[in-house]
Amino acid sequence: MEYLEIQGGKPLKGTVEISGAKNSAFPILSAALLIKGKMRFYNLPKILDILGFLEILKDLGVEVQEEDDSFVVDTSRDISTKILSSEYHNLRGTQTLLGALIGRNGEAGLPSLGGCNIGTRPIDLHIKGIKALGVNIGWEGGYLKAKVKDKLRGNLVYFDFPSVGATENLIIAATLASGETLIENAAKEPEVRDLVRFLNLAGANIEMNGSGVIKIKGVKNLHPVDYRIIPDRIESSTYLIMGIMTKGNIVLKNCNPWDFEPVIMKLREAGADININGNEIRGKYRERLHGVNVKTLPFPGFPTDVQPQMMALLSTAQGTSVVIETIFENRFRAAEELIKMGANIRIEGNTSVITGVDTLKGGSVTAPDLRGGAALLIAALSSEGISKIFEPYHIDRGYENAIKKIIGLGGVIERRNIT
Ligand code: EPZ
Repeated sequence: MEYLEIQGGKPLKGTVEISGAKNSAFPILSAALLIKGKMRFYNLPKILDILGFLEILKDLGVEVQEEDDSFVVDTSRDISTKILSSEYHNLRGTQTLLGALIGRNGEAGLPSLGGCNIGTRPIDLHIKGIKALGVNIGWEGGYLKAKVKDKLRGNLVYFDFPSVGATENLIIAATLASGETLIENAAKEPEVRDLVRFLNLAGANIEMNGSGVIKIKGVKNLHPVDYRIIPDRIESSTYLIMGIMTKGNIVLKNCNPWDFEPVIMKLREAGADININGNEIRGKYRERLHGVNVKTLPFPGFPTDVQPQMMALLSTAQGTSVVIETIFENRFRAAEELIKMGANIRIEGNTSVITGVDTLKGGSVTAPDLRGGAALLIAALSSEGISKIFEPYHIDRGYENAIKKIIGLGGVIERRNIT
């Protein structure tokens, strides 16, 4: 059984290169199916989720060539419409293949729209949006089956919740539809903006002005483009918190600070010293942080994907903090592991009350999911003594070269195996 062994207590120092955004790569690689031809993607993170997603694309008939600084994707051949069940089909990132296969072939079949066990992960808004374009969609024999009735037609769609995945699916499916699609109460996340930028460069006609309304004017076809994925704002936030909680002084390179401004503002509110310089940001520990209150919200609110990492940080801040999780109903799973390390956290529904302790103690913990695993990594690096984090594959799913990057910052960490 694999685990990470960490010697805590060393302040992290130095620079870390931020990788491409996992949650931008998924919808953009899906949207590439709307285009016939060869495209080169830069800054794709080589993490389990993306490598698994590329396997699914290959199963569909896409040719994928990994090069040292990019991936070449060729979508010229016929693409099948049905995703086969595999070890990867449970990736939430596959959700946008629904819109892409409908846009390419007029039909789609997916085994599930998966996702981390942080909540029920419904797909009612995906179905609402796709149906509005004139598509029959429903579950058939364990598959989510979709088929265009006669042709994809634009329509007006209101989302009861600004769902990232449902917004991305509808944008992709509407890009080659006839007529105009208007999405009201659409998601505004930077990853949605990156998808729109990619599609417009390929000849789409999409307006996204940050108001929550997205207008897609259907076009006849798109042309191949090479594209660089934006930096990962969640990875950036994770390392910034890691540097500060270990009482260190680190510089993040190749990041987009404006994409995780809510995190920066909250860390400053807690007393961290943060300096922004273009695509670089320095996070420095100045003195013991004091507790702050955090409420996760859709972008531009505080991102739910940084909530567990923030909980770790606040567990040794002075005073009491209240963290309210409004996006997912089961996203406090890291708390029980942090409590094993000496944290004082009380959970009541979607609210957690964190009373700061002086320091955490190293211990044996298990990563519950991707971001919960990241929270334990931060806590272990900051605590006294040795920690073991079991099921580290959760971390490998979303953080490229995490061990190498942490060692590069002076962290003492290695991957081990209990045989
Ligand atoms: C994306 O998930 C991200 N994943 C998540 O990141 C992220 O936490 C989430 O957006 C919110 O920012 C990918 O992009 C692959 P949603 P997604 O649809 O699209 C409800 C990570 O750690 N909802 O915006 O699944 C849903 O229940 C992952 O990298 C419906 O009610 O998120 C949830 O409460 C975790 N009906 C809320 O919306 C629907 O049809 C947010 O879901 C769809 C969603």
